[in-house]
Amino acid sequence: MKLLLLSLSLICTAFAIPKKPTGRIVDCDSPEANDAALEALHYINTNHHHGYKFVVNQVEEVHVQPETANGEIFYVELDLLESKCPWVSPTPVENCPVRPREEQAVEGDCKVKLQKQGGNFTVLGVSCKSKPDSAENVFLACPTCSLLAPLNDTQVVHAVDAALLNFNNGNNTVHFKLHEIGRAQIQGPANIKAQVEFVIAASNCSKEEANAALDSCVALTGQGAYYGSCAASVTKLPGAQDEEIDVQCTVYDPQVDQTGVPSSGVPAQPSVVHGHFHHNLRHSSLGPHSSESNSAEKLLHLHHPKTPTKRSLGKKHADPNALVRPLCPGKKNFF
Ligand SMILES: *[C@@H]1O[C@H](CO)[C@@H](O)[C@H](O)[C@H]1NC(C)=O
Ligand SMILES: *[C@@H]1O[C@H](CO)[C@@H](O)[C@H](O)[C@H]1NC(C)=O
Ligand SMILES: *[C@@H]1O[C@H](CO)[C@@H](O)[C@H](O)[C@H]1NC(C)=O
Ligand SMILES: *[C@@H]1O[C@H](CO)[C@@H](O)[C@H](O)[C@H]1NC(C)=O
Repeated sequence: MKLLLLSLSLICTAFAIPKKPTGRIVDCDSPEANDAALEALHYINTNHHHGYKFVVNQVEEVHVQPETANGEIFYVELDLLESKCPWVSPTPVENCPVRPREEQAVEGDCKVKLQKQGGNFTVLGVSCKSKPDSAENVFLACPTCSLLAPLNDTQVVHAVDAALLNFNNGNNTVHFKLHEIGRAQIQGPANIKAQVEFVIAASNCSKEEANAALDSCVALTGQGAYYGSCAASVTKLPGAQDEEIDVQCTVYDPQVDQTGVPSSGVPAQPSVVHGHFHHNLRHSSLGPHSSESNSAEKLLHLHHPKTPTKRSLGKKHADPNALVRPLCPGKKNFF
């Protein structure tokens, strides 16, 4: 209880508005800002148990508070982009390709508070939101592409069920259950083609056991749990009864800690996200340091009121008494 109170008061103190917000100048594209961004990204990816891993697209702002006995406090605002690696994938995020624009990539915006001590960053607070890229941007990149469909759309759910049935029929070893629908796009109306991505969880049944008593098969949990991810397209040609199903799944080894995906903390229940087009970062549990409160939302802007940066001030600015602002935002890594 004492510990809890202590940490609560620490967070409150930490989120209070500093009187003199003038610490060191750290540019958004500096190696130091990059280190902070990577630490924040790691925190976000390990605590976001839905959808896809994110990559850093741009460091928007960096603000540093003057050093105290506890080190320095960094406020960093990051623009993130969805990658193609589902959150259950053991692939290190450095190797995860970014989601192309054509697929209406989800963009994340995170305000992160970190402590830097002895050269190491620790995340103290995170506040994120996310949304899919705009229709305009998608159609600019690909005029014939389709936008994200709601994850509970009947055609999407049907396509996922059909694809999973197809995959399970081809696997004699283990019966898999649906864990989460990650994203979906539907083309139509002539040939209805649903392109879906979903996460599957191994159950305690073999194919034969599932055939005999499907209702008693449950997804494995705890240390024995393992997952896979599938991409499928299900096409219904006009007038035809049958559907063309193309499904590809990758089954991952049981999760171990060094993959960055915690072996505990995995949601035992599949997630249903009615009416949503993607897995919003805001709806995810980002661990003990995240906050959906106002104070966290304002976290960065309170501390770092929008003022001209070095870049926008340019060379004209020669007043030595004027506040020097970091060179921000940084470059975009992708788009
Ligand atoms: C910083 O991290 C390194 C590597 O993890 C560790 O060896 C070192 O003790 C840390 N320093 C501080 C001050 O925490
Ligand atoms: C069937 O399930 C096993 C066990 O999880 C997995 O290793 C294998 O890749 C799956 N087979 C196919 C064809 O995907
Ligand atoms: C799977 O687990 C459920 C619930 O624990 C149990 O009722 C069922 O018999 C198990 N099935 C197999 C094949 O082990
Ligand atoms: C999807 O969810 C939304 C919001 O809960 C609901 O209004 C809509 O009817 C659902 N669609 C289907 C097809 O279930």
